[in-house]
Amino acid sequence: MTALPTGSTMQASNHLAVSDLVKQFGGGRSLIGRELPAVHAVRKLAFHVEAGEILGIVGESGCGKSTVARMLVGLDAPTSGRIELGGSPLAEPGKPIHRRALANRIQYVFQDPLSSLNPRKTIRQILTAPLVYLKHMDKEQIETRLKELMEQVNLRAEFLSRYPHEFSGGQAQRIGVARALAAEPEVLVLDEPVSALDVSVQAQVLNLLQDLRKRFNLTYVFISHDLGVVRNLCDRVAVMYFGRIVETADTDTLFSNPQHHYTRLLLDSVPGTGKQLSVGDQANAELPDPLKPPPGCAFAARCPAATDQCRQTDPELKGTDAHAVACYHPEK
Ligand SMILES: Nc1ncnc2c1ncn2[C@@H]1O[C@H](COP(=O)(O)OP(=O)(O)OP(=O)(O)O)[C@@H](O)[C@H]1O
Ligand code: SF4
Ligand SMILES: [Mg+2]
Repeated sequence: MTALPTGSTMQASNHLAVSDLVKQFGGGRSLIGRELPAVHAVRKLAFHVEAGEILGIVGESGCGKSTVARMLVGLDAPTSGRIELGGSPLAEPGKPIHRRALANRIQYVFQDPLSSLNPRKTIRQILTAPLVYLKHMDKEQIETRLKELMEQVNLRAEFLSRYPHEFSGGQAQRIGVARALAAEPEVLVLDEPVSALDVSVQAQVLNLLQDLRKRFNLTYVFISHDLGVVRNLCDRVAVMYFGRIVETADTDTLFSNPQHHYTRLLLDSVPGTGKQLSVGDQANAELPDPLKPPPGCAFAARCPAATDQCRQTDPELKGTDAHAVACYHPEK
């Protein structure tokens, strides 16, 4: 995976590729023609992930991570930009999203495992739904597949008759993963999949995810606040700030040689594994107003190296596959 400079051409070899992705909520015009305010949640964002890789996406609360995730799995339509999987478009503005076709290729694992499972349905019912609607399996095939799925997430088959509230958070998240695997997708988008879990349980779920990735050659987009988890799990990392990717690199490179001033601030503020990402005690720690994005670099108000150029024009993401940064005056 690497981030692509905004507007650049996608490469055929990219498994999942996003370019110029924009999402605005609201906007448009009122009946009397007055311009309505729009929340600029994702602003010309680009990245790609190779088959079998884990891309970590990190960034503070509100920077747009879940909005990207929801667009990747077709829960939200992009305002503009493209998402491609294996060279074919998943989402294009103005074209309907084929949810069923998409669900067979790319699946979402939610942050809060318990609330993402219907409390009135047994695990059998929850896991059977995608086998019927997406895989069109008959009764016998469903029985075999249910047992396989439970084995794949290290849960006993007798749990199939239980309800979600009978499970711990870690077990519930395994069921969430099994539900995603039922579709036999190529890509899992994991939106803070372990943040709601105790640290000891987090490790078990992360090990399971790592095993499943190898076993089924899955590709992961792994969204997290926790830089320690990202460092341990991900092949590459993309740092998001205010709706854009500001830096992306191989995990080791990003942690040893951050070049964007925001990445540096994040790494300096989060000393160890397991610490939550926060720069809240820094001066001017607020993100800019999403209703009124600044014309230049969104980090300029907080950046010690900001110049007039930074305040006037937003820098594009530039660099190589190994390391790309959106900054006029990167750290060396
Ligand atoms: N449906 C919506 N309508 C209006 N604004 C929205 C909507 N969904 C998200 N936003 C706004 O878009 C921005 C990005 O939100 P998003 O949930 O993607 O952030 P996030 O990085 O996932 O945050 P967190 O780490 O807290 O989960 C925020 O300003 C948020 O308020
Ligand atoms: S572009 Fe300018 S303001 Fe933005 S991070 Fe780089 S130096 Fe700082
Ligand atoms: Mg989120």
